[in-house]
Amino acid sequence: DWTMGNFIEMEINKIREQVGDKKVLLGLSGGVDSSVVGVLLQKAIGDQLTCIFVDHGLLRKGEAEQVMDSLGGKFGLNIIKVDAKERFLDKLAGVSDPEKKRKIIGNEFVYLFDDEATKLDGIDFLAQGTLYTDIVESGTETAQTIKSHHNVGGLPEDMQFELIEPLNTLFKDEVRALGIELGMPEALVWRQPFPGPGLGIRVLGEITEEKLEIVRDSDAILREEIANAGLDRDIWQYFTVLPGIRSVGVMGDGRTYDYTVGIRAVTSIDGMTADFARIPWDVLQKISVRIVNEVDHVNRIVYDITSKPPATVEWE
Ligand code: XMP
Repeated sequence: DWTMGNFIEMEINKIREQVGDKKVLLGLSGGVDSSVVGVLLQKAIGDQLTCIFVDHGLLRKGEAEQVMDSLGGKFGLNIIKVDAKERFLDKLAGVSDPEKKRKIIGNEFVYLFDDEATKLDGIDFLAQGTLYTDIVESGTETAQTIKSHHNVGGLPEDMQFELIEPLNTLFKDEVRALGIELGMPEALVWRQPFPGPGLGIRVLGEITEEKLEIVRDSDAILREEIANAGLDRDIWQYFTVLPGIRSVGVMGDGRTYDYTVGIRAVTSIDGMTADFARIPWDVLQKISVRIVNEVDHVNRIVYDITSKPPATVEWE
């Protein structure tokens, strides 16, 4: 009789048998899959697991803290956190081409992960959050790209790892159920898809700290209001973007010349095609008022009403 409880017990036994007294490395991204793998492995082998979490400074508000507090704190995972915000911003300075930005972020990520991995002694296994769908189909772009950051191909050639992929018989909804069964918070288990390059591709063109802050703060307000409206499970992805244009506005007695924030929200099955979400006007109004009032240097909000195709989900 297959239950999630049985699955956990069987998986734990399997992992213990495979690993013995050896050590396992896992790259945490903040996403559902790698987090569930981390908690499962912690249950199975405890301190024989070491995690590396590269914080590129392009995560959403509170995300890095959530990884450290929840996974590192409550679940007791042994996490090496690499604070690389400055490093990423330095590398990205002056770069405005989206593909160049992606490449820089991806390369730097692999480089920093490898660097930390090399410092660790006596690691025999590399754990990955590969899902069943990643194997049978090509998988979604999101899953693939995030995983390519952590896969064996990205590691130094002299490091030989055996792979552990405890989720590779599961579908996404089963992974979420597993996470819940393991006692993980709903916010983590139901986290919306988030691209590897993070907010780096939501600040259009050149990335600056000021612009990142606008996207991060406006995005946090959007997420809060979508959750308040009870829409967070209905909308596939919802976020803000900063196109970088400024326009004229009026506030009090004064004229303003400030940034426009775009809201992007889509319904989708797999991210390959998408439709813009029909967020109720009153919810949009609340979001708009709050962002303009609470985020400095923003005086206008627009709502993206294009589907994919012809647009993409992200703006870059
Ligand atoms: P697009 O913008 O191509 O996005 O319609 C489809 C899905 O893929 C995500 N996405 C990415 N994920 N690295 C990732 O890991 C990327 O460079 C990247 N670009 C887009 C996007 O968030 C959506 O879920």
